[in-house]
Amino acid sequence: MDAVRVDATRESDIAALFERVGEFDHLVYTANGAPRPQPIAGVDIDQARRGLDVYLWGVVASVKHAVTRIRAGGTIALTSGMMAVRPTPGGALGAAGAAAIEGLVRGLAVELAPVRVNAVRPGTVRTPMYDAIPEAQREAMFAQLAEGTLTGRVSEPEQIAAAHLYLMGNPYVTGTVLAVDGGSVLK
Ligand SMILES: NC(=O)c1ccc[n+]([C@@H]2O[C@H](COP(=O)([O-])OP(=O)(O)OC[C@H]3O[C@@H](n4cnc5c(N)ncnc54)[C@H](OP(=O)(O)O)[C@@H]3O)[C@@H](O)[C@H]2O)c1
Repeated sequence: MDAVRVDATRESDIAALFERVGEFDHLVYTANGAPRPQPIAGVDIDQARRGLDVYLWGVVASVKHAVTRIRAGGTIALTSGMMAVRPTPGGALGAAGAAAIEGLVRGLAVELAPVRVNAVRPGTVRTPMYDAIPEAQREAMFAQLAEGTLTGRVSEPEQIAAAHLYLMGNPYVTGTVLAVDGGSVLK
């Protein structure tokens, strides 16, 4: 196993990463820059733009520099989010970013076939994304969000990883978005 630290907003970093990696099988993009929830009337456009540099343009640069190195049978998997289809107030930019990822998936699946391109659409996942929230408050928030699911819980990262393994392994799945949201979109 090897780890390399790159800034996903810098195309030169990404180009150097894939130059170093060479040929490979599966690209999974999870760098987080989804715009923070904020009312549109007060939106900090520069901050939102910086977020999308990671969340959307980092994907574009990664695919650009990865695609010629993906072996036959390989895949690309992106990350959208439940806000693409069920935004909350203040979440319009998050919805726009996630929906852009889902559109990108369909366009890339057509353009890059037979490389398969899909996305995972997570609901709430217990990750370091929430570490800045004090523990008691965070657990109360997860409990409240769990009530908004059909499964009665928020997701663990392992459940997202399982979705990625499925997308890598099923040779008949491309151009699709796999929701891993505890059925919350139905509640
Ligand atoms: N967690 C959820 O509830 C949830 C729900 C829906 C969708 N999602 C989506 O799922 C994906 C993963 O989220 P997560 O929960 O794992 O977020 P996270 O815990 O905040 O982790 C985000 C990762 O992105 C990396 N990153 C941030 N800026 C970067 C940059 N400029 N270049 C390279 N890497 C950068 C971070 O690296 P460092 O640690 O080095 O900063 C970190 O490893 C994101 O697209 C997020 O929007 C998450």
